[in-house]
Amino acid sequence: MAILIDGKSVSAAERELIKKQISDMSVKPGLAVILVGEDPASQVYVRNKKKACADVGIYSESYDLSAQTTQQELLALIDKLNKKADIHGILVQLPLPKHIDETAVINAIIPEKDVDAFHPVNVGKIMTGDYDFLPCTPAGVMCLLKHYNIDPAGKECVVVGRSNIVGKPQAMLLLHANGTVTICHSKTKDLKEKCLTADILVVAIGKADFITGDMVKEGAVVIDVGINRKSDGKLTGDVDFASVEPKASYITPVPGGAGPMTITMLLKNTVKAAEIKGE
Ligand code: GUN
Repeated sequence: MAILIDGKSVSAAERELIKKQISDMSVKPGLAVILVGEDPASQVYVRNKKKACADVGIYSESYDLSAQTTQQELLALIDKLNKKADIHGILVQLPLPKHIDETAVINAIIPEKDVDAFHPVNVGKIMTGDYDFLPCTPAGVMCLLKHYNIDPAGKECVVVGRSNIVGKPQAMLLLHANGTVTICHSKTKDLKEKCLTADILVVAIGKADFITGDMVKEGAVVIDVGINRKSDGKLTGDVDFASVEPKASYITPVPGGAGPMTITMLLKNTVKAAEIKGE
């Protein structure tokens, strides 16, 4: 029986620390949250982000823009927020409608307010290890490992997925933690054999129940970053929990594993941005 990694309780403990930290600050951290369009999943994420801000004492401003908003209008809003003194972090919820160039939008947020750590300056800093902000989902995974005293040093770490938001930065953070890292993706040959080498397996491929028990080494730590909605409406991860759990030493459930940590790391980055600004 694997030990369940409880992202909800780790997240609650981390948020208590953040709350205390904010109560000792002379400046109230501020986050602007921009949502373009009416994607239901994005609406839920944005609502949860704003609620989490209120819970820990971060001021938040929200901009719910119509799906017809032009790129120029969005860039003008970002420009305004870049200059706004009470806003320390700017978050544009992705994905954006097709007519808007995501890269142009990410590049428009000044790196000092880029609490998602998506701007190339921050991505570069993550590569060198000289970073201010860590990308929220991979940082959340590292925080979970730390809470459960799972040290990646010297371990075989396999990351399944190579997105800019999760897979690539996750690999880098595991490398900084002295793991031996392999990145796998949809074109990887012998994916099963690669996964079977993993002491720590982090899965962010976006395919429901993709990793099955026969792909996991006995005693592996399995972190499931996927969130997929099945035809019956239930949420499921990228890991087939029923067949993988008996082989794993530790495993994250979906929901309640890696998910709750992402927003907590966003709160941390927003506090950091305010602290840096105040220095
Ligand atoms: N869409 C899915 N994940 C994220 C995230 O971490 N940040 C933003 N801005 N959009 C997302």
